[in-house]
Parts: sequence; C-alpha cells; structure tokens
Amino acid sequence: MIKLNQFQRDQRRVAQSFSTAAERYDMVASLQRQVVHHLLDMDFNNRCGALLEFGCGTGYATWQLAQDNAIDTVWALDIASGMVNYACHHRPHSKIRWLVADAHYLPFGDSTMDTVFSSLALQWCENLSQICVEVARVLKMDGCLQFATLGPDTLHELRQAWSMVDQYQHINHFIPLSQLETTLKLYFGQVRWVHKQIVLRYTQMTELTRQLKILGASNHNRAAASGLMGRSRLERLQQAYEKWRDQEGLLPATYDVFYLQASHPKNINSR
Ligand SMILES: C[S@@+](CC[C@H](N)C(=O)[O-])C[C@H]1O[C@@H](n2cnc3c(N)ncnc32)[C@H](O)[C@@H]1O
Repeated sequence: MIKLNQFQRDQRRVAQSFSTAAERYDMVASLQRQVVHHLLDMDFNNRCGALLEFGCGTGYATWQLAQDNAIDTVWALDIASGMVNYACHHRPHSKIRWLVADAHYLPFGDSTMDTVFSSLALQWCENLSQICVEVARVLKMDGCLQFATLGPDTLHELRQAWSMVDQYQHINHFIPLSQLETTLKLYFGQVRWVHKQIVLRYTQMTELTRQLKILGASNHNRAAASGLMGRSRLERLQQAYEKWRDQEGLLPATYDVFYLQASHPKNINSR
C-alpha cells in the first residue's frame, strides 16, 4: 500500500521543472489555454479590486486579468523563478506585480485580496488544506477564490498504458472532486463547481509525452519511477497505448477538469 505522503509533490523539483520549461511552455500549452479561457468565461462572481493569481506561469491569464477595468492590481505569483522572469519580460503591464513565492505561504496580510484566481496550478501543490488556510486568510470577507484543477481521470489512457509496462506510478495523483469539495467547505461557506472533460488527440503517443516534457509537467510524486526510458520500454508503452486509437486513426488523451469557486471565507479568528 502506498502511504499518503508518497503522493506528495516535491515542491523544489516542481519549481525547477517549471523554471526550465518557461521558454518553450507557451508553444505547447493548448490544453492550458482552453482551460483558462473557460475559467475566465465562467458564470462565477465578478472578479474585482486586488486580485492574486497563484501559479501564474508565463503570465497568459495574468495579462488578460489586467485588462479587466474592475481589477485594480494583479499580484501574480509563481514558485518557479524562471516562469516569473519569462512572464514579466513577455507580458509586462502596469497593473501587474510579479512575485516568486510558494502558494502555501502567501506573502500578504490578512483580508487584503478581493479575488484569488488560479488555473491548473493547484494539482502541483503539496497540501490542499494549507492552500485553503492561506487563501481564506488573505481574502476579504466578501472575496472569492476561482480556480481550475485536474481530476483523477486525467491521462487515464497513459496511466493504463504504463501499467502494462511496469508497476511504477508515472502519472501524478489527482484529488477527487468529493475530496476537493469537502476540504474547501471547511474553509469557505459556499462552494460551486463545474466538471468538464477535454480530450486532445494525437497521431503518435510520443507527441503527447514530448508535449508533457516541454510543459514541465512531469511526475513529481515521491513514488514516481526513476531512471531513463529505454527503447524497449518506450516501444511497449506505445504498443499498449495503441488500444485507444480511434476510428479517425488518432490517439486520445483525456483531461478531467474541475472549475471551482469558493466564497465566504471562514477565517473568523483573524478578523
Ligand atoms: C501547469 S502550470 C500553469 C501555469 C498557468 N496558470 C497556465 O495556465 O498556463 C502550473 C504552474 O504552477 C506553479 N506552481 C506549482 N506549485 C506552486 C506553488 N506551490 N506555489 C506557486 N506556484 C506553483 C508552477 O511553477 C507552474 O508555473
């Protein structure tokens, strides 16, 4: 049996991996773009005032958020210094303040933010409860958190294909919606969510694995397999993935996406 802490991400490795990925990330971030556009268009509370975005990456959403007249300042934070460097050089804006920091320890005072926003960063964070504590602390009483994250069905085709090759864990562990909802409700009075699946299609499995590598989205769970992928393992993995080839001759890769809004932070003690 795998203990829970074997699923924890090594945050230092996450930061290094995304820093290295920064220069090429935008070239392959099609899933990330679809998700963030959907999140920005959601029928959630209006975003306004002081907004914190954690896991801003290359700053694509950050720049869009800064265009919104209802938002005064965007505090854009990422654990990967390479991402923040890239973002502030490529997407500068007078309303954006860029920061290298860990979302588990937000460098802001209590009740200072009107909105906290995040797209596809939470699944890289080690401790959901700690993130909720921090977000609830920095939010004003009428503020809200809006975010997108990935669910357990994400990359199930690749996960199953790997299981035919070895018994290591190659795909990150993703938190089920029920657990997300239960945890959020400990810290917020109201939680709303929408669940959607996005399926990307490839002619070859190696296009998918190459894309994941460029994105910096490799597996950082502590139970991850170590070692290099030899030619024979790659061939076995490709063969196992073939079972998913569809009638149009393409290979699907499923992303299970949760869009959530949490409002009425319960951080009563510090108010
Ligand atoms: C998949 S990228 C998403 C980037 C961007 N939001 C987008 O949609 O393109 C995840 C980002 O979260 C950042 N991240 C991961 N863990 C973090 C943490 N604990 N605190 C702040 N940022 C974190 C990574 O460095 C990376 O830039």
